[in-house]
Amino acid sequence: MKIGMLTGGGDCPGLNAVIRAAGRYAHQKNWEVVGFKNGWKGLVDNVMVPLTPEAITGILHRGGTILGTSRTNPYKKEGDVEKVKNTFKVHGLDALIVIGGEDTLGVASKLAEEGLPIVGVPKTIDNDLSCTDFTFGFDTAVNIAMECIDRLHTTAESHNRVMVVEIMGRHAGWITAHAGLAGGADVVLIPEVLVDIDEVCDIIKKRHARGRTFSIVAVSEGVKFKGYDVTQKEQLDAFGHVRLGGIGQVLADKIEERTQFETRVTVLGHIQRGGSPTAFDRVLGTRFGYHAIELIEQKKFGFMVSLYGNAIIPAPLKDATSGLKLVPEDFYKMVKTYFG
Ligand code: F6P
Repeated sequence: MKIGMLTGGGDCPGLNAVIRAAGRYAHQKNWEVVGFKNGWKGLVDNVMVPLTPEAITGILHRGGTILGTSRTNPYKKEGDVEKVKNTFKVHGLDALIVIGGEDTLGVASKLAEEGLPIVGVPKTIDNDLSCTDFTFGFDTAVNIAMECIDRLHTTAESHNRVMVVEIMGRHAGWITAHAGLAGGADVVLIPEVLVDIDEVCDIIKKRHARGRTFSIVAVSEGVKFKGYDVTQKEQLDAFGHVRLGGIGQVLADKIEERTQFETRVTVLGHIQRGGSPTAFDRVLGTRFGYHAIELIEQKKFGFMVSLYGNAIIPAPLKDATSGLKLVPEDFYKMVKTYFG
């Protein structure tokens, strides 16, 4: 048996844990394991590296991915899908493990439908992939954002300021909702709900009228405001996503203007994606890697490993990539209970 692996999309803590877990289990079965560099680009350009036991040792705790990553979409450019299929053939691959989020696994799903023996592993700090309770990387991002909110609390308190903290999350506010709850943010704003700036300012004013001298506002980068069109960078990636950023500053300016409270903004950005994975993400990544090998053994192609309760079960890639998993209304209702 010979299997390949790739990591695609935005990197995330835990990728190396998956590579190591799948690789070590495959080696125990005497399978040959190879990796393709930089996501789907590695299969388009045929850039392969052997994943020997030596190549995957000492990587469990390391952030990022030893395989590199990119947002390459082979369905975007004429001829690239053929190149992917050809690379598959040239290396005589019996299976490919694709570790990615909705975009990377969307490509995996299409290729599996075309007959390639592919299994998926759900990755993204955003936790917005359907058919799995959690993706690995999310827990680490939440813990980083929570720690930043804790730190902002002390400086906000000392200076009597409103602190706006911009958190990643393009379409889904999972990181913001969890980190906001865990960090005790006074207002938590997510992309699933159109934001009314007057309402936000009212919450802050009422809180300060009760004697509080500072406030923390956690806002997802993908939030939209009622009545304001915040311009984002025009540049689109291969999957058609705009580059986000800047919502925190817009919000901070509006809050300061309307409340007269001194307001500062902190953009967490890629800090949330860098560094070592938490124990939870290392364990989840390891379980996913192990079960990806089991799926291959069972020839259950076109599926991804997914977390359901505390069990790892197979989920069809088609279902997992057919729509995003957003923060449900009732969850956000609970988050809102602790505003102000
Ligand atoms: O998909 C994960 C993510 O971190 C999003 O939260 C964010 O919008 C995006 O990637 C940023 O992408 P890039 O690293 O390409 O700027």
